[in-house]
Amino acid sequence: MKNFTFMALLYFAATASFAESDGRWFSSDQVKRGEVLFKQNCAACHGQNAEKTIDWKKTDANGKYPPPPLNGTAHAWHHSLELLKSTIREGGKKLGGVMPAFEGKLSDTEIDQLVAYFQSKWPDDVYQKWAERFEVSELPSISEVVQTNEKSSLTRHLRKRLGQFKLGEPTETAADDVWQVKFQDRFLYLIEGGKFAIIGDLIDLESGQNLTEISRRDLTIEEIAKYPESDLVIFEPEGEVKATLDIFTDTSCGYCRKLHKELPKLTGAGIRIRYFPYARGGEQGPGYATLKSVWCAKDRLQAMTDAKNEITHNLPAGDCEAAKVVDQGYITGSKVGITGTPALFKKNGEKIIGYVPYQKLIPMVLN
Ligand code: HEC
Repeated sequence: MKNFTFMALLYFAATASFAESDGRWFSSDQVKRGEVLFKQNCAACHGQNAEKTIDWKKTDANGKYPPPPLNGTAHAWHHSLELLKSTIREGGKKLGGVMPAFEGKLSDTEIDQLVAYFQSKWPDDVYQKWAERFEVSELPSISEVVQTNEKSSLTRHLRKRLGQFKLGEPTETAADDVWQVKFQDRFLYLIEGGKFAIIGDLIDLESGQNLTEISRRDLTIEEIAKYPESDLVIFEPEGEVKATLDIFTDTSCGYCRKLHKELPKLTGAGIRIRYFPYARGGEQGPGYATLKSVWCAKDRLQAMTDAKNEITHNLPAGDCEAAKVVDQGYITGSKVGITGTPALFKKNGEKIIGYVPYQKLIPMVLN
């Protein structure tokens, strides 16, 4: 709701027809509606322009305070938006005052409009003090931000909340009113017009497609391209290279071993296999040391096959320079969204999760 109003504000600010409330949480429309409600419900006590009572600090004969001005000259700005609204809802009884309660008589929307009306009377410096005190700054609605080309302001607002991270520009997703923003090496999703953000994968349950994975492909290609081929363990196909498949593998993982047994079928079909190390669990993981040994072996292909067959007595120590790739692979793996092994990547960055029997895998890779 608040957010919606800010959206309207941005729109007006952008079309330069709404200078008065520039930077405020409410819209001119709310102010207009609030004025009507104020005259009907509040003006009798607080004055037509929310200016009464001038002498608001003086109690009456009964020791009660008169209605204070709400136009910024009294101390309404000492109260948060929530408190201003709850005073209108609940009245002054709670505080020993006489203001009537409007709960049940006015809706939340109307109460927002009333506050918008009297706050529109506040001079900028008073409003500013209030806004700073209660940090009233709304995340702009993303859809409006995009329409008004205020992307830099969106980034600024997101940074205020998320910290100094690398943020991309918002893009629309297939889901209604959900926007995607690249956040470091991940993606976050703004929902409810930018009121909430979720970090995770967006999955289309109708098609079964992981939409985030599709967005991640460019990043994946970029990350994978950082590896010179000399850092990899490559199984060449027999004849012509028809496709390349990048596999993040762990020698200790059962399905990686199973896939490795079927490697001749893949290379036989013209698929070039490039192995990247990915030790599940990192340094503490069960495959970490063996992977390092494989990368240190003179004949890495043989060492890889041996390790996958649990023949490890021939493997060298994993303390050579080349073994650093194993640590890098772990970092890259998290950047490209690996959640398990084997993790397969096609040339276009498309991820295939887990073991797929070669009969099914070959057409998937060649297409
Ligand atoms: C019968 C008179 C009366 C009416 C009608 C009335 N008020 Fe009040 N209002 C008061 C008084 C008196 C106070 C001071 C606190 C108390 O005694 O309850 C007050 C306090 C407030 C405050 C707190 C201000 C501060 O600085 O602490 C707000 C906000 C407010 N009124 C808004 C409204 C709005 C909006 C309406 C109309 C929907 C309204 N009031 C209608 C008498 C009234």
